[in-house]
Amino acid sequence: MRQPLIVANWKMSKGLEEAKDYVRRFPGEVTGVSGIEMVVCAPFIALAVLSKMVQQTPLVLGAQNMYWEREGAFTGEISPLMLREVGVRYVIVGHSERRNLFGESDSLIAKKVASALEYGLAPILCVGEDLRQREAGQTKEVLQRQFFAALERLENEQPGRLVVAYEPVWAIGTGKAASAEDAASAAGFVRSLLKEIGSAAAQKTRVLYGGSVNADNIGDFTSCEDIDGALVGGSSLKEKEFAAIVRSVYEERRG
Ligand code: PGA
Repeated sequence: MRQPLIVANWKMSKGLEEAKDYVRRFPGEVTGVSGIEMVVCAPFIALAVLSKMVQQTPLVLGAQNMYWEREGAFTGEISPLMLREVGVRYVIVGHSERRNLFGESDSLIAKKVASALEYGLAPILCVGEDLRQREAGQTKEVLQRQFFAALERLENEQPGRLVVAYEPVWAIGTGKAASAEDAASAAGFVRSLLKEIGSAAAQKTRVLYGGSVNADNIGDFTSCEDIDGALVGGSSLKEKEFAAIVRSVYEERRG
């Protein structure tokens, strides 16, 4: 059984004080919830402070990006070792905003995935088609290309603690989530790609859905066999809303 994973991606929101308030208030919103991994991907400047605070909470810390080298002359970048030092366990890699706004290529993303795994971080690899590709019927083709390109540098084909998030670009921040059928079909396809790497990888790797997830629609996704949780942007910014998503998954799994 794969443990459900719900990830908050705050993006470029929340300064340090707001981030601290959130982490202080969140645990009270999820009392009694167990068996669900809850990750908050905060801006870099908040990570060191939050790492101490989350120790008394059910939250695990994630980062939104990283560079692949361990140290050196890379002005403005943050290394996987730095993230590890402040208690970060997950890192989002290949988010469509990084691909589209910052020009991150498949080959650069592959370096980040391999580096995250090498330094003991769990990469949350985002893959997904844009609207034009979807309308042209190219969804699977895009997923397949992004997936294999990102895993190209894996040693011995070991995906380790990899998480894959299916995030259709047209659903991100638009309030227009994918239908449960489309998300299930894409997640199933991602799982079939994982099978090509190995049956253990396909069994244990968690596949998330992301794109306009909220407390009302989360159940549509997590009730699908191949979807193990969600990557949540806008609805993760208020602790009550994010907690409502977590509680909904908890209730559903409890049956
Ligand atoms: P959204 O963002 O929930 O605001 O659509 C999701 C994401 O970017 O991961």
